[in-house]
Amino acid sequence: MDEPNLDAMDLMLSGESGTGTQIAAEIIAALAKVFDANGFVSIKSSQISGVSFKNIGEAGLEFLESLRAGGARSRVMATLNPCGLDLDAWQELGFSESFYLNQKRVIDAYGGLGIDATCTCTPYLWENCPGFGEHVAWSESSAISYVNSVIGAKTNREGGPAALAAALTGYTGNYGLHLDENRVPGVIVNINCPVESYFDFGTIGLMLGKQIGKDVPFITGLDSNVCTPENLRQLGAAMAASGAVALYHVEEVTPEARVMAALIKNGDITPSTIEIDAIEGMKDALPANMEGDGGAPIDLVFLGCPHYSRQEVLDVLEQLRGKDLKATIWIATARRFKQELLEDAQAMADLDPRVKIISDTCIVVCPIDELGITSVVTNSGKAFFYLENNEHLAVLYRDTNTCIDAAISGIVAITGEEGLHAQD
Ligand code: F3S
Repeated sequence: MDEPNLDAMDLMLSGESGTGTQIAAEIIAALAKVFDANGFVSIKSSQISGVSFKNIGEAGLEFLESLRAGGARSRVMATLNPCGLDLDAWQELGFSESFYLNQKRVIDAYGGLGIDATCTCTPYLWENCPGFGEHVAWSESSAISYVNSVIGAKTNREGGPAALAAALTGYTGNYGLHLDENRVPGVIVNINCPVESYFDFGTIGLMLGKQIGKDVPFITGLDSNVCTPENLRQLGAAMAASGAVALYHVEEVTPEARVMAALIKNGDITPSTIEIDAIEGMKDALPANMEGDGGAPIDLVFLGCPHYSRQEVLDVLEQLRGKDLKATIWIATARRFKQELLEDAQAMADLDPRVKIISDTCIVVCPIDELGITSVVTNSGKAFFYLENNEHLAVLYRDTNTCIDAAISGIVAITGEEGLHAQD
C-alpha cells in the first residue's frame, strides 16, 4: 500500500495548485473524513461517469467548466464513461442537433481537464486496464465490479464527481475496498443449478443483487469453464445494477478467491449463506395495451451492455450476415473497435442497413424517448433493470439468439415470467 501523502494533499488543499485542483482536493478530503479514511492513497487511473448531458445538464456542465477555469488537470490516466449519443453517427441514429451540441460541450469540458473522451464502460478492454492490487478510483458500477473482482484492482464504488476529483488530485481516501479487510466475503452464495450462458449470468446477477445489496459474495458452484470474461462482466454488471455489489469472488476463478476460500475454511471469517436452486425468469415490462398472448413488435434490439469487445461484435455480425432485418439492432462497443470494424470490408459485408454498430453511448444513457422508440429487447440484465421502469417503453429481456431472431423477424414472443432459461 502506498504511504499516505499528506504533503501533496495539503498543498492542493491550500490552493497552491489553483482553485480547480483545490475544489477537487476538498471533495476527496471531505469523503475521506465522512468514511473515516486511513489517510489518502495515490491512484493509477480513474474512470468517470456522469457524461451524458441527459443526466448532468447545465449544472454539471457549469461545475466542469469552473474546474477548468480554475486550472485543474488530470494527474493520472482518466477515461470517460458513455455519453448521450454516438459522437460520429448521431444524425444517422436520429439524435437532435441541439442535444449533440450540448453533449459536445460536456465532452469538450472534460477534454479541457485532460480526461480522455473514450466514452466506453469497458475501458479495461484496451485503454485503461489496471493491474492486480493497484489502487484506482472508478465510477460506473459495471466497470468497478469488473476491475475489483476479475482483475483484482482496488476501487470503491465512486460517484462521477468523486472519480473526477480523484483524477484531478491523483489521490483518493484510503477506506472501503482499498483496505484488504473490507474485501472479505460477507455472504457465501452456493449455486445449485446450471448457469451456462451470458443470459444465465445476467439473470443470476439480477437475482443476487436484489438479495445481497452491497455485501461481498463468495460464489460457489459455477463451472470455471463458462466463467469467461464476458460472462463475468455480465454477472457483475447485473449484480451492481439490481444491488450495489462492487466486488465478488468466484471460487477457483477470480484472483482473490483462493485467499478468501482459506479464510472461510479456517474459520477466520463466518459469512452467512444463500442457496440458489433455480434461475428465476424476469417478467416482461409491457404497456397495458400490449398484454396478451401475441408477440411484441420490436423497434430496437440492443446488445452491448456493458460495451462489447471487438470479437463479441464480430460474432453477432456473423449471425446477421445475409439476413434482411425488420427491426433495427444496435451493437454497442468502444469507438476504437467500431472504427476498426467499419474499416474492415469483410466484417461489414452483406449486412442489412438496420445493423448499427454504435459507440460512445448506450440505450440507458441516451435520450431514448426522443428517438421514437417504443419497444426494446436486450440480452443485458443491467439494461433491462434500468429500462423496465420507463413507462413509455415495452422492454423484454432475452438471450442473445432470441434478440438476433427478433432483429430478423421484428417480433418477440411474450413469455411472461416463465421459460427464460436459454443457451446463448
Ligand atoms: Fe455501459 Fe450503458 Fe450498460 S454505460 S454498462 S452500456 S447501461
